[in-house]
Amino acid sequence: MFPDSRSRRSRSGVRIRKMLTETRLHRDDLVLPLFFDETLSSVRYTDSMPGVPTYPVSDAEKVAERVQAAGVNAVLLFGIPKHKDSEASGAYADDGVVQKVIREFKAHSDVLVIADLCMCEYTDHGHCGVIHNGEINNDWTIGRYGAIAVSLANAGVDMVAPSGMMDGQVSAIRDSLDLGGHNNTSIMAYSAKFCSSFYGPFRDIAHSVPVAGGRETHQMNIANSREAMSEIAMDIEEGADIIMVKPAMPYLDIIREARSRFDVPIAAYQVSGEYAMIKAAAKNGWIDERRVMIESLTSIKRAGADILISYFAEDAIKELEQ
Ligand code: PBG
Repeated sequence: MFPDSRSRRSRSGVRIRKMLTETRLHRDDLVLPLFFDETLSSVRYTDSMPGVPTYPVSDAEKVAERVQAAGVNAVLLFGIPKHKDSEASGAYADDGVVQKVIREFKAHSDVLVIADLCMCEYTDHGHCGVIHNGEINNDWTIGRYGAIAVSLANAGVDMVAPSGMMDGQVSAIRDSLDLGGHNNTSIMAYSAKFCSSFYGPFRDIAHSVPVAGGRETHQMNIANSREAMSEIAMDIEEGADIIMVKPAMPYLDIIREARSRFDVPIAAYQVSGEYAMIKAAAKNGWIDERRVMIESLTSIKRAGADILISYFAEDAIKELEQ
């Protein structure tokens, strides 16, 4: 009989569509990035990231309680220090901005606390490592990353997320953590982090625009997929517990390819530019923000990501609860 198959049968009502849904977002998939700035005494908003506040450190307790009450399972912390210098010493100070926030979160919530581990918010030149003779000194820098990791772990962090794309960073961090007695601190490695223009609004928030030069000597060429797979393989070999692809939506093919090759958990970061585009279009009335938010997150999970890092996390959780 014509037609031989009728796909529309399976789409004919709400109940059957629900039953046949292949990918389901869950609030525990989501990770909420949070910004704390040591120089602030009240919340600051950034034009290019509507709805994403930067908090003063004194708000940490309140924020920890709020996000826990909102059903957030995990947060990813970023800090903007009072003092920046060429060595990023604020990144590994015992009373550094993120260290203080970690202690507040651990004291006032049981949310999983992940800390971004990089130097670019802490250096006066805005680069992700220590500069020697006009270049980022890779091996010197990863030693410092180890010290940052230990300092974050001493403050009680559950997981560190190295985002600097230095060679050997995961093994240097793993060694330092283990030697420092922190063998239970996990590593979520930004393994396939592309040199993307989608990070623009983040740099407005984090004040981490390099004073001169870009990040193309360490972040990946946007055109490369095979190289992304070898970066991921290296990080797994070096001891990463979770690997990450970043950005997310423009790199769904990379997520899918990683999913088919590797069995470790995969995180994907829906970055600031992805968020800002959706926000801007929605503000103009050109798209439906809630539906596009859910569609974008679903697409990232469908591609193969287990963990979704998104500035929409809190809103998405609200939406999923309806
Ligand atoms: C580096 C870091 C960046 C982001 C996360 N970690 C910025 C960069 O590489 O320039 C970008 C996140 C986003 O755009 O949302 N510490």
